[in-house]
Amino acid sequence: MSKTYFIETWGCQMNDLDSQRLSGSLKLRGYRRVDDERQASLILLNTCSIREKAESKVFSRLGALRELKAQRDVLIGVCGCVAQQEGEKILSRAPWVDFVMGPGNVGHLDEILAGGKTIAIDFPEDRRYDYLTVDRPSPTKAQVTIIEGCNKNCTFCIVPTTRGREVSRPFEDVLAEVRAAVDSGRVEVELLGQTVNAYRCPTSRRDFGALLSAVAEIDGVRRLRFMTSHPAEVNDSMIAAMRDHANVSRYLHLPVQSGSSRILRRMKRLYTREKYLETMNRIREAIPEIHFSTDFIVGFPGETEDDFQQSLSLIEEVRYGSLFAFKYSPRPGTAAPRIGPPVDDAVAAERLTRLFALQERIQQERLQSYRGKILPVLVEGPSKHDPTMLSGRTDDNWVVNFVADPATPLGSMLGVRIDQAQHHTLRGEAAT
Ligand code: 5AD
Repeated sequence: MSKTYFIETWGCQMNDLDSQRLSGSLKLRGYRRVDDERQASLILLNTCSIREKAESKVFSRLGALRELKAQRDVLIGVCGCVAQQEGEKILSRAPWVDFVMGPGNVGHLDEILAGGKTIAIDFPEDRRYDYLTVDRPSPTKAQVTIIEGCNKNCTFCIVPTTRGREVSRPFEDVLAEVRAAVDSGRVEVELLGQTVNAYRCPTSRRDFGALLSAVAEIDGVRRLRFMTSHPAEVNDSMIAAMRDHANVSRYLHLPVQSGSSRILRRMKRLYTREKYLETMNRIREAIPEIHFSTDFIVGFPGETEDDFQQSLSLIEEVRYGSLFAFKYSPRPGTAAPRIGPPVDDAVAAERLTRLFALQERIQQERLQSYRGKILPVLVEGPSKHDPTMLSGRTDDNWVVNFVADPATPLGSMLGVRIDQAQHHTLRGEAAT
């Protein structure tokens, strides 16, 4: 049978990129990608364990693959954070799985496929990273990891267990990867890390701001983004790099998790509500047009109605352009479940609904304020909903669907007159 693979990816941008790396190294070994798992000789599930729901999905997927395995010769590998977290337990629950491979081993797929090793969940010293073989799905955009792992110990979070301690890549390696991406036609670069702004070059100690500036100054980088920043790691050098480079997106995702200092302390987030607001004000002073987005957790152990009200008032105060919010989910091995009484599930669900309703109103007001304006949009491809239209993003990261000459080259920057605010996106027409 010819060598074919199917890969399914859940979770964060780091996982997306890991799949691009796995995919690239398989293509190099002569594998061809297929969209139907029944045609594959190798099936990879690249999994997420950030909340319980994500994790249970993996086991139901594996249940479905059992039958396939009984019918034909196929290799099944579980990758990603569930692999790291559950290790051998996956093989005992689903013995039809052939190998289990954690995020630290993405560069070592060759050895794993070569045989023998069925469980690879260490964090090798030598984290091989062959950027030239990354199989990038977008013709206009390249994601580039600059730091792996996380040294924070937020009491709710499983990431330090599943992705290990922080390891930054050398400054020059990152620049070389970006140059190669630009040479291959990518005009947009997104720097990635679980705590991206904790970056420190392992040899020169240069910080995230220095790297951001250096990448922004590479010829051909039309737009530069990064994900995800920790509020306690924002410093003057990062703010200055954003302010001084017009190609750095006017968008910052700064997860707050809660508006209550009492809860933030229990989460070990390393800032208070006041300190977080002060950081945001410093950024807004330097970059007034910035679009902030954030993450909230509702129903953290011990969260009272009063704590929750403080999350709502923070949303009012900051007026985030967009946000993500999740019901707290206890994760194995983390400290939070011991911290306070669990919040009743129905109460947490109701809080989540109220939070989304408030954000919906604020977001609509913000989106409406763009009507009639002409905004520069980086063209990414046809619109998902209407292929006769094009789609792209504004400098501050709003998705715009717009009418324009269908021959407009992807990756070009176009002035678009905004005529309508839709649910979470903008609509417009090319201005020229
Ligand atoms: N329960 C619910 N949400 C969580 N997140 C991280 N861990 C948990 C958890 N145990 C959320 C945080 C984080 C986002 C990626 O996922 O808001 O910023």
